[in-house]
Amino acid sequence: MNLKEYKELFFRSEKLHLNNAGLSPIMKPAQEEINFWAKRFFEEGYYSDHDYMARVDWTRQQISKLVDCGKDEIAFFQSCAGGISQFAFGIDLKKDDEIILFDQEYSSNLYPWQQACKRAEAQLVVVDLDVVKLVTAEMLIAKITKKTKVIAVSAVQYQMGAMIDLEKVSAACQQNGILLFVDAMQSLGMHTLSFKKLKIDGLVCGSHKWLNGPVGVAFLVLKKELIQKIQPLSIGSGTYGTCDDPSDFSCEPKVDASKFEAGSKQVLEICALGRSIEVTMQIGVDSLRAEAFSLAEHLRYEIKRLNFKVFAYAEQPNQFVNFSTEKGNKELQKFLFNHGVHVPLRGPGMRVTPHAFNTAEDIDKFITILRSF
Ligand SMILES: Cc1ncc(COP(=O)(O)O)c(C=O)c1O
Repeated sequence: MNLKEYKELFFRSEKLHLNNAGLSPIMKPAQEEINFWAKRFFEEGYYSDHDYMARVDWTRQQISKLVDCGKDEIAFFQSCAGGISQFAFGIDLKKDDEIILFDQEYSSNLYPWQQACKRAEAQLVVVDLDVVKLVTAEMLIAKITKKTKVIAVSAVQYQMGAMIDLEKVSAACQQNGILLFVDAMQSLGMHTLSFKKLKIDGLVCGSHKWLNGPVGVAFLVLKKELIQKIQPLSIGSGTYGTCDDPSDFSCEPKVDASKFEAGSKQVLEICALGRSIEVTMQIGVDSLRAEAFSLAEHLRYEIKRLNFKVFAYAEQPNQFVNFSTEKGNKELQKFLFNHGVHVPLRGPGMRVTPHAFNTAEDIDKFITILRSF
């Protein structure tokens, strides 16, 4: 599949989709997958049971190829928050344990840690960031003490797209016997990442950003050795076996990560995610990233020419364009919304995040609207 064919998998209308770090449209194959299963559920009910479970399993395979992990290390959740909470509350934090994270982490990777620390009387060690400055692994590593239990970090920060050197963080975690937890929500689909090689202990990602799957599904990847040690937060038939197993008070939890999926699954969303990951890998993450970065560069160039203030990390090209206006960002946001474009306020300004499915025409259209502000 080439880029042109990939772009054709997306619906075109007068709407501009430039908040892909927020909620990206789903691709056609994902929509078809949902329609396929909705039809089967409508027509076959229970008789589709075996087939949809096989497709859920196939989705695990797609994820395992995307992040380089075992199929049995994956658990589906409804959101990243669910997966992060499972990890944070399941690892048996003790009084005075320390968890290191940046103050700029997205709230789903902040509040679970904060609450888990509160309950266990552990310490949240927060590293303050200047959101427009470079984010480095050293900032996290400098906070390591003998009490550090976990470093929790986003591979790509959600406001400005700052990327962290995970190899460095991982090496420090290995040296000090610390668990590494990665929120890959703003990374997968745009960047390659190896769960195994980076020796990550827990990773979470959802469907609806750079993977162009539907909202409502996320997955947690857990290192095999940890699965037995982590207590499931949600308990049900899926913790121990399947919905067809007779109840048995002496049964033992499953040994793979599916023990964290307590009951019935959100099959439509999971299968659609599987399909969008398959297509993402067919075209190749590298070419998607090159295209998105190039559209973002074009956007930055044009926005600068209109005399807006553009914030960026010179050292790190990315697809996060952040800019502000002296006339007021809220006013600009309203103006853009009235012209049919949703752009969120994030960090120091407005965040515009093109994806590889966007076109040069999308960028030109955005600039034309901006010019009339
Ligand atoms: C870094 C990061 N993690 C996670 C999420 C999504 O979290 P959840 O699935 O809990 O809504 C976002 C969405 O904005 C994000 O930017």
